[in-house]
Amino acid sequence: MATDALVLEQVNSHYGDSHVLYSISLTLRTGSLLALLGRNGAGKTTTMKTISGLLEATSGKILLFGQDIAKKNPENIARAGVRLVPQGRRIFPSLSVEENLQVAAQKRPIQNPWNIPRVYDLFPQLRDRFKQRAGTLSGGEQQMLAIGRALMGNPDVLLLDEPSEGLAPLIVAEVARGIEQIKKEGLSILLVEQNFNLAMSVADDIVVLNTGEVAYAGSAADVRTTPDLATRHLGVF
Ligand SMILES: Nc1ncnc2c1ncn2[C@@H]1O[C@H](COP(=O)(O)OP(=O)(O)OP(=O)(O)O)[C@@H](O)[C@H]1O
Ligand SMILES: [Mg+2]
Repeated sequence: MATDALVLEQVNSHYGDSHVLYSISLTLRTGSLLALLGRNGAGKTTTMKTISGLLEATSGKILLFGQDIAKKNPENIARAGVRLVPQGRRIFPSLSVEENLQVAAQKRPIQNPWNIPRVYDLFPQLRDRFKQRAGTLSGGEQQMLAIGRALMGNPDVLLLDEPSEGLAPLIVAEVARGIEQIKKEGLSILLVEQNFNLAMSVADDIVVLNTGEVAYAGSAADVRTTPDLATRHLGVF
């Protein structure tokens, strides 16, 4: 069996004295998309921060292709091949679209390295606006740019924290199409979503968090057949 892209084993995380993640275990299979679902405050962003080293796990293992990265700093985790698109799509507002992509570039030995034209092929709206200050883009375009910046780091594992948040349905569909395309490139993707339909349209596997614990883990196929497996942990959709 090939090594899994990312495995969390019994991960605990705290903010100071506040215990937020309780023995989280999950597996992102290489080349697949795992959707991480859960209500507001369930611990989804905290899981992403812990994987990317912005918050150090208080215990547990985080295995990237079998190597424990739990004690590495964010720069070394990025260099090892993990890129986070944070919730709220952080970009440099005063830089142009193209400058935002340029400064995010990182050389890594992947099959088909990303470059600016390939990001523009993925999201053609960005090509049309390459000189524009990123702060003046629409929310959807900023999300596309944030994803493009992450891709410029040539990651093996992409962490997407609520890419559809605050976007109109047509734009959500455009972002979903982009995620599908990226998946075809062989990237392993951990997607945090509150948009259940978007998550189900792209996911191979599902994990639902509930107050910092894994409440459900299973295949997206099972959840498509029996949505209640996941939705009963999610509140109203
Ligand atoms: N910097 C912080 N300091 C202290 N507590 C925090 C901090 N950030 C988040 N928390 C708490 O940790 C818990 C998990 O928050 P987290 O942001 O991981 O949730 P989430 O699932 O991403 O929610 P949302 O869907 O609203 O983005 C919440 O109770 C939250 O209040
Ligand atoms: Mg969050």
